[in-house]
Amino acid sequence: MQTGANSQGSSGNSAAAGPSDAVKVVQRIGVPREVFPGEKRVATVPEVVEKLIKLGFTVAVESGAGDAANFSDEVYRAAGAEIITGAAALWAASDIVFKVRGPTAEEVGLLRDGGTLVSFIWPAQNPDLLQQLSAKKTTVLAIDALPRTLSRAQKMDALTSQAGVAGYRAVIEAANAFGRFFSGQITAAGKVPPAKVFIAGAGVAGLAAIGTAASLGAIVRANDTRAEVADQVVSLGGEFVKVDYVEEGSGGGGYAKVMSEGFQQAQREMYAKQAKDVDIIITTALIPGKPAPKLITAEMVKSMKPGSVIVDMAAEQGGNCELTEPGQAVVKHGVTIVGYTDLVSRLAKQSSTLYATNLFRLTEELCKTKDGVINVNMEDEAIRGLTVTKGGSVTWPAPAPKVVAAPAAAAAKPAAAPAAKKGGHGHGAASEPMAGSKLAIMFGVAAALFWLIGASAPKEFLSHFTVFVLACFVGYMVVWNVKPALHTPLMSVTNAISSIIAIGALVQVSPMSEALGRPNDLISWVAAAGIVLTSINMFGGFAVTQRMLAMFRK
Ligand code: NAI
Repeated sequence: MQTGANSQGSSGNSAAAGPSDAVKVVQRIGVPREVFPGEKRVATVPEVVEKLIKLGFTVAVESGAGDAANFSDEVYRAAGAEIITGAAALWAASDIVFKVRGPTAEEVGLLRDGGTLVSFIWPAQNPDLLQQLSAKKTTVLAIDALPRTLSRAQKMDALTSQAGVAGYRAVIEAANAFGRFFSGQITAAGKVPPAKVFIAGAGVAGLAAIGTAASLGAIVRANDTRAEVADQVVSLGGEFVKVDYVEEGSGGGGYAKVMSEGFQQAQREMYAKQAKDVDIIITTALIPGKPAPKLITAEMVKSMKPGSVIVDMAAEQGGNCELTEPGQAVVKHGVTIVGYTDLVSRLAKQSSTLYATNLFRLTEELCKTKDGVINVNMEDEAIRGLTVTKGGSVTWPAPAPKVVAAPAAAAAKPAAAPAAKKGGHGHGAASEPMAGSKLAIMFGVAAALFWLIGASAPKEFLSHFTVFVLACFVGYMVVWNVKPALHTPLMSVTNAISSIIAIGALVQVSPMSEALGRPNDLISWVAAAGIVLTSINMFGGFAVTQRMLAMFRK
């Protein structure tokens, strides 16, 4: 584990005298300016600096590191960071370096021997970099290697946060290059039809693009080889366009696989049809470790209406469109083809803030004791996944994560006491399994109660009571096994149950009751009141459900 930083020039909160007068040495997180040409992001932002300091660390930022993302040295300083001029001084003073892009050879040279680095690394594509980092006995956490299928890891998932920004920006670039409105409008000067947008690939970036284009008022269609994303497309306001060919497109872990020639042919035919019809195509199709699938041919581009736009998000991996020029926006056959590879950087303030938050969440996991010292716990599946070197040993690739994500109840237990004031993620005491003895007592009391009722109550009551108890049991099992997030849709079920009550009440209120020799006015009145109350519940329930669903529609 890392130990002490030299606390030279720190802002004063790095050392604190404890009761035993021992000086507590905390680690310094350093954030250098990104050196990759055109990279505007920065690995931490002022509001996150404050949170890192609350975790016990000191934070140093290279002078000018946040300029391109509109975060000045002054704002960092006000948040409690120390500003260090020059990359060499910053790297030398940092126990842990937070970066966006992987380090250059020169930066690896600046990293302290035995230091820690957190950044994008792409270890599969950069084996040499991994060797250089390992030679310096470093511990490197590659944020791109996070096991994304672990639900607990989502808060640290920088790939997702950055791809979401890119999807949003792709639509903005498309709108910029497109000569019309996205939304349909009826104005005094004439009627404007809505723009039609087709999104190829509905992964993270694709879904963000669908949501953005739909919110701007366009008609949005999307296709993906993974059929399971169809519902997500619809929930974001798009229409899922199927390929007329049956083949499972999921390659596992939320990623796609290379499809058969038959599927590809059928897909090309469908894409050719869409190209003729739509105004904007945004392509985001990606199969990890493979060149981008070529989905939009030169012929399809030619068939598009003049003034149409293609934004090819996969430009860096060779492009989903045959005519894309990576890094450029070009006009071919009257169609603007945008192949920018820096979409995230074009929204640097937003993407930096999200990235910084991802790294902060990771830091929280690394420093559960909040004492400004990280602990790279290789027993933790998420931490293990992204640790690509540990103290110089190459630990990449990590063993495959265990089957399907399970809630980390056991792992959360030791931290339960100090985490109490944080609020956590709902794994509080309420969700603790009930102690065995308590459960046995409860069962005993319930059994005694039932015996008493059974022994003393009249026969007719018992049959109703049995139905009532069974209904309670079934209701409990149904509701308790449903995730809280799905409780809202359960309201529809409640409405259905209310409807059944209405049927009972209707039977009782009917004049038949008198005909059957039950001239009991009271029952009729109670039934009538039951109908009124049930109707309120039924229609009110549907109205509320409708309003809740409307929140997700646009
Ligand atoms: P992702 O893996 O979440 O999504 C890719 C989607 O493409 C998956 O849903 C997959 O099923 C689908 N797909 C694969 N083959 C397909 C095919 N033949 N037809 C239809 N769909 C297919 O990836 P993510 O994070 O959404 O990224 C998408 C692309 O955007 C990647 O190429 C990524 O490199 C790029 N990107 C570009 C940026 C830029 O600045 N230009 C910034 C961030 C991401």
